[in-house]
Amino acid sequence: MKKTGKPVLDALSGRKPERVPLWLMRQAGRYLPEYRALRAQADNFLDLCLHPAWAAEITMQPLRRFHMDAAILFADILLVPYAMGQELAFKEAVGPILNPIAHEGDFAKLGWDVAKLGPVFETLERVKTELPDDAALLGFAGGLWTVACYMIEGQGKDGFSKAVAMAKNDRNFLNLLLEKLESATIEYLGRQIEAGAEALYLFDSWAGLLDEALFNELVIAPTKRLVTALKLEYPEIPVIGFPRGAGPENCRRFLLDTGVDALAIDSSIPLFFAREELQKIKPLQGNLDPALVVAGGSAMIRGATEVLDQLAAGPVPHIFSLGHGILPETPPENVAALVSFVRSWTAA
Ligand code: CP3
Repeated sequence: MKKTGKPVLDALSGRKPERVPLWLMRQAGRYLPEYRALRAQADNFLDLCLHPAWAAEITMQPLRRFHMDAAILFADILLVPYAMGQELAFKEAVGPILNPIAHEGDFAKLGWDVAKLGPVFETLERVKTELPDDAALLGFAGGLWTVACYMIEGQGKDGFSKAVAMAKNDRNFLNLLLEKLESATIEYLGRQIEAGAEALYLFDSWAGLLDEALFNELVIAPTKRLVTALKLEYPEIPVIGFPRGAGPENCRRFLLDTGVDALAIDSSIPLFFAREELQKIKPLQGNLDPALVVAGGSAMIRGATEVLDQLAAGPVPHIFSLGHGILPETPPENVAALVSFVRSWTAA
């Protein structure tokens, strides 16, 4: 098979690239002063996402500063509910606020107008023209369960108890919502591919709230349907799944059953399990603890060395990244030190 010249894409198709591919989850954002400067010019976060010149610039910011192997579209998983007509605002220091969907009457009001996301596709087209030859362009969406959590709860909340109660007691309603999210997300991701996304990332950030049976029904099954639909039309586009908090065994079944090309693992997955049980199935991405990049210094280097020695030294390609998004308080110079360390690492 021909190499693509893009280490991330090589790794995702199972080919070991010349160097360990590297990018960091949520690499664009508040820890960068150049992001904060642009953010101050916009009225709100949504405007920033829907303004292609700004969003393309923010997508490129981490690549200008650091030698990353991928750019991830600057947008948000909650743009799907936005295009369904659910009211959405991002409040400073609070996070997203949505008008919660509580019963079928609210559900009936939801539509789907992909044209509202036209600026996102334009952002991808712009980034494509600026991207270095060795960097891959990643599109993304939220996992259906995670997006449903925000739609039902109306905000980010520890435990998402309303959504979890619905998963246990009111499945007709939740299933309707998931079906609607599924067709919207398939169209949204297809349009991202048409606009230039070379691989896709599915953030199921709240997968860890579900027990094994519910994880099967609300994470594995919908992810499988999503991946199957996308592969039918775009067989060459790899998909990375991130069922955060799912735990080792659920991760293993996710990797075996959903059809994703690679699994992003969070920092709680033991490296030994990752290497012995997960990496034997498919390539992994992860999983340095983001708190170690805040700390920097020898703690960060020790953590990165463990990830590389365990996951990048063997025959299976590995994409070096974090176990969750980079934290806003991260000093950018620590990111620079991390990138240069990963670049200089060679298998012992
Ligand atoms: O480099 C990148 O990855 C940037 C693009 C991006 C954002 N959000 C920008 C953003 C991506 C890939 C996301 C994904 C996202 N959004 C997830 C999944 C990943 C994860 O962190 O678990 C989730 C759950 C959301 C929903 C969301 N958006 C929340 C809960 C919040 C508030 C808390 C937070 O992380 O800031 C947002 C806001 C948001 N999304 C910001 C950014 C840069 C901060 C907004 C600001 O600058 O005011």
